[in-house]
Amino acid sequence: MTTTDSCEPTANAAIGRMPRPEELATNLDVSTLVDSDGGLIDRSIYTDEGLYKQEMRRIFARSWLFLAHTSQFKKPGDFFTTFMGEDPIIVTMDKKKSIRAYLNSCRHRGVRVCRADAGATKMFTCTYHGWSFDLEGALQSVPNEQAYPEDFDKKDWGLIEVPNVAIYKGLIFANWDPKAEPLEDALGDMRYYMDAMLDRDPEGTEVIGGVMKWVLEGNWKLAAEQFATDWYHVNMSHASALMVLSPTGKGPKADIAATPGRQFVSPKGHGAGFPTHPKSRFDAKAVHEHYDYAALRERLGDAAVEGPMTTGHATVFPSFSYLPVNGSIRVWHPKGPDKMEVWAWILVDKSMPDEVKDAQRLYNLRTFGPSGIFEADDGENWSEVQAISHGFVTNNVPLNFQMGIGSEREDGTYPGQTSELYSDAAGRGFYRHWATLMNEPAWHENKNK
Ligand code: FES
Ligand SMILES: [Fe+2]
Repeated sequence: MTTTDSCEPTANAAIGRMPRPEELATNLDVSTLVDSDGGLIDRSIYTDEGLYKQEMRRIFARSWLFLAHTSQFKKPGDFFTTFMGEDPIIVTMDKKKSIRAYLNSCRHRGVRVCRADAGATKMFTCTYHGWSFDLEGALQSVPNEQAYPEDFDKKDWGLIEVPNVAIYKGLIFANWDPKAEPLEDALGDMRYYMDAMLDRDPEGTEVIGGVMKWVLEGNWKLAAEQFATDWYHVNMSHASALMVLSPTGKGPKADIAATPGRQFVSPKGHGAGFPTHPKSRFDAKAVHEHYDYAALRERLGDAAVEGPMTTGHATVFPSFSYLPVNGSIRVWHPKGPDKMEVWAWILVDKSMPDEVKDAQRLYNLRTFGPSGIFEADDGENWSEVQAISHGFVTNNVPLNFQMGIGSEREDGTYPGQTSELYSDAAGRGFYRHWATLMNEPAWHENKNK
């Protein structure tokens, strides 16, 4: 892992430079809205505008958020634009080949200095009045600069830089908190479960085929929480998709619902669930035939190969999720309490032959692409939950997260605390951590005290 977190860039002193009235940042106590021990969730956490704004301040402005994959950057100037919460971000490779992340908002009048999705450049030139920033974020040129007062110093007006960028096995994350704990510590035992997807190939992974983006009516947590904890919906919600995929065309065998498995519950809000089977395999035939399972056992250990390597689901708190069986990695970008934008990449092993990469890509699109036979089912559920949650009475009726209460334990095989495959344990963990962060002042609040 490499980290570029050494100094706070000069321009960042601008954050909070003009003290704001407290009314602009009213924080609500969420302790009565999340009962993690009892397994009850108040629906206002999906609908309330004030809580949503608090999430921007206390969840997204202080958590490690996924930005992009290292294979998207090959030479200085390669860039990709994304979001951290609702903050627009430029991710780029600087002249020394370090990955850096900047707030994609011009220091002059605030428009995005880069409006392209991805590309390569030497300079980010704002199209409003022409201020120009280099790959290190420094303001290099200002048209008609002589019209500014004498003490105007370009050094003070560079792009705001995200102070922490860190890479875990090809995945680039960033965190606004200048004192954020290191990414590896924030992931903790989750790394073991991620490695089952990220570390199958000594050469590592890469993303292929661009980024798929689509909008869903639904709060971002509905998706993040489901990927952390919910195997329960698979047999019911995806019954027709499972039927299409089953060799007989008659649907999954009756014993599938009773399949054994585990669910990892992280104290940092992450979660991962997976069936366990000694002959666990990849669904796409070409991918299955490509892998040397004995070599994978050697590399990752039997437990990883028989569990989290293939069929499962996972969320890295708060908004990054993945599915190892088809290489789908995705971010649930919040777009208001009622809307999310899904950004999905297809991850493959670097040393896979091209035809195997392509087979995985096609399998991914068929199942979990924007119109994939599974993806459509999930989106429909989240939108359904959201569409009715604004009803006053509906909003007052709590949701049930009680499956598997008290089942969390160290199982002797999988790292950390685990529960059963069919359980809400990681969901309770997700919301426990969410509530903790929502009730604790963040770095930007401390600074102003
Ligand atoms: S807003 Fe960018 S140069 Fe004016
Ligand atoms: Fe699903």
